[in-house]
Amino acid sequence: MKKVISVVGARPNFMKVAPLIRASQGKNFKHLICHTGQHYDYNLSDAFFRDLEMPQPDYFLGVGSGTHAEQTAKIMIEFEKVLNLENPDLVIVVGDVNSTIACGLTSVKKGIKLAHIEAGLRSFDRDMPEEINRIATDSISDYFFVTETSGYNHLKETGISEDSIFFVGNTMIDSLVYALEKADHSSILNDLQVNPKEYILVTLHRPSNVDDIINLKKFIEIFEYLAQFRKIIFPIHPRTTKMMKEFELYDNLIANSNIKLIEPAPYLDFLNLMKNADFVMTDSGGIQEETTFLNIPCLTLRTTTERPSTIELGTNVLCEPDYENIMTEIKRFLVNPPKRKSIPSLWDGKASERIVKIIEEKIFL
Ligand code: UD1
Repeated sequence: MKKVISVVGARPNFMKVAPLIRASQGKNFKHLICHTGQHYDYNLSDAFFRDLEMPQPDYFLGVGSGTHAEQTAKIMIEFEKVLNLENPDLVIVVGDVNSTIACGLTSVKKGIKLAHIEAGLRSFDRDMPEEINRIATDSISDYFFVTETSGYNHLKETGISEDSIFFVGNTMIDSLVYALEKADHSSILNDLQVNPKEYILVTLHRPSNVDDIINLKKFIEIFEYLAQFRKIIFPIHPRTTKMMKEFELYDNLIANSNIKLIEPAPYLDFLNLMKNADFVMTDSGGIQEETTFLNIPCLTLRTTTERPSTIELGTNVLCEPDYENIMTEIKRFLVNPPKRKSIPSLWDGKASERIVKIIEEKIFL
């Protein structure tokens, strides 16, 4: 029987792989999960396995944090051992995190076929570690599963054969569709004592936004301004907490009763928070897509996006993260938020089924 290993490592990977594992059940190939351990905190990892009803990983590499070189190198060393033991026919990597390129590179160097889910996305900003991971992974993959038109076009422009590019839709939206009803039962709004549409949901973790004291101070000033009009719910990433404490900005923010700093939210709670928010402010990649699907206005605090369909069709507005720009956009969002034109093509909850069919009928013929 043919064998596939799917790799997960960091928070945004789990929801992209869970539906693929579900869609593989009962099919004619064995599907193993390898968790690199890039994210290891309960709230960034185990809570997602629980909420996504994902089987426990077959391998856990436990690599943890480190510099990019340390993290990437550790993942490669440990993943090679898994490949030696299992000798799979196909490795699947998702998205753009360090685990994606590390496991991709290890696989192709051993002559194992590589498939990349969410291939072809480009921010054209090489200062983002994720952009380097995307370009490098696409340059070594054998099969490309694409979530939106821009991804397809970028791959074609680099000369990749159409036969290996598959426009399948978005497996992250598969998870969202699957979990939405369950998310309605989350008690998070009650726990936080907020009502639907009466709060703004904020997430912030990109190094370019949080690793610099001047930038971080600017965001905090903006949140404090906004807190005069709406409550703010801010599930805070460990990187951001660490930087706020280092810059001595944390205590002030926590003292503001209209700003609720909470631990990173588990998947179902976070879906509920997104679905009921007045609007969302974020520098995440995936949240731009989830808010478009949910038709919730999203202000993205970045100069570029690798997900242009969320702007062209969806609710996303890109905002250069300087003080004046953000204030202008916030004032607009408070009175006249953007509305969705349509949901991007094939974001219908069935992308994983399409991928499994392609694996069975085209890759493992
Ligand atoms: C990683 C991804 C990013 C993704 C984000 C989502 C890369 C290059 N970046 O960024 O694309 O949007 O995940 O969360 O792969 N930490 C903990 N506990 C954990 C994990 C990390 O405390 O479970 C701390 C680390 O010690 C480090 C910081 O968080 O200080 C950053 O972690 P890291 O995995 O290096 O990158 P992220 O910023 O999370």
